[in-house]
Amino acid sequence: MNLQAETEFHTQNYSKKTFLADVLEGLKSSPKKLHSKYFYDEAGDKLFQQIMDMPEYYLTNCEVDIFKNKTEQLAKIILTDNEPFDLIELGAGDALKSGYLLEYLTKENIDFTYMPIDISGHILEVLDEKFRRDLPNLEIKTLEGEYFDMLDKAMSISQKRKVVLFLGGNIGNMYLEESHHFCRELRRKLNRGDILLIGFDLKKNPHTILNAYNDAAGITSSFNLNLLIRMNRELEADFDVLNFQHYQTYNPLSGECRSFLVSLTEQNVHIGNQAFHFEENELIDMEISQKFSQDDISRLAKDAKFHIIDEVTDSKNWFVDSIWQVF
Ligand code: AVI
Repeated sequence: MNLQAETEFHTQNYSKKTFLADVLEGLKSSPKKLHSKYFYDEAGDKLFQQIMDMPEYYLTNCEVDIFKNKTEQLAKIILTDNEPFDLIELGAGDALKSGYLLEYLTKENIDFTYMPIDISGHILEVLDEKFRRDLPNLEIKTLEGEYFDMLDKAMSISQKRKVVLFLGGNIGNMYLEESHHFCRELRRKLNRGDILLIGFDLKKNPHTILNAYNDAAGITSSFNLNLLIRMNRELEADFDVLNFQHYQTYNPLSGECRSFLVSLTEQNVHIGNQAFHFEENELIDMEISQKFSQDDISRLAKDAKFHIIDEVTDSKNWFVDSIWQVF
């Protein structure tokens, strides 16, 4: 089956009420802020697909390289005993990368259940259909909802050992403090012997990183501006997209790669009946894509009380899938 050709979906099904509340809170704060989890409406999904196809955006190719070419190595690391286990994927999307591992494990007749977790029921339906067609021997149980709620559910429906995948460098879309909290929460939910496999984008030549988010064709710019269009449509806002400009930064010392929208003029924007004033050159903080050193990863694992049992990198050493165990 051609897993690589399929689309990586990210559509997020947040309620309008939550979306509005988060937007209002973000625009009332200083500096103004929007949450990048709202980038992924239908147009946002398409733009993200285009980002992944850009020559500058290396992250997806690096992790596909790991899952496609180092599948056996990954399988050996997670198969710590011969007991059946549950393979849980947080934010499975269309399982572009994990699909290689699933294919390998089913071919080897390994006894496991795949439990993809996603907030979008639609994505899970597509995934379920795809695997029933392409990997008919795969035991699959889809879990629709927020990561931690569904992880609780997975723990309650089966006592088997858990292997949790959190791929795509998505941990980078959290501020460091948040990612520490996230890993501690995951650790609290898991039991001794359980495994967590996280994908991290590594610190590297700063030009390489900045170019991946500051592409010449302006796709990342459209990806950011699309959130304004989404708010106009879904939250009765009146952003004039032409009055905002994408600005990307990368700080090689902290590893923070951040995107902003700059207000090109002094202006008022309305969301329903609430008005928001922008000064000329005022920023909206849009997204963080944190990059990590090996030390950053070790600190994160140690702080959450995991043991790093192994690491698998792509052929360029730009991206790592770090494998942690609860001891
Ligand atoms: C989904 N996430 C890991 C992407 C990233 O690299 O931070 C989102 C993205 N933003 C701009 N380009 C890609």
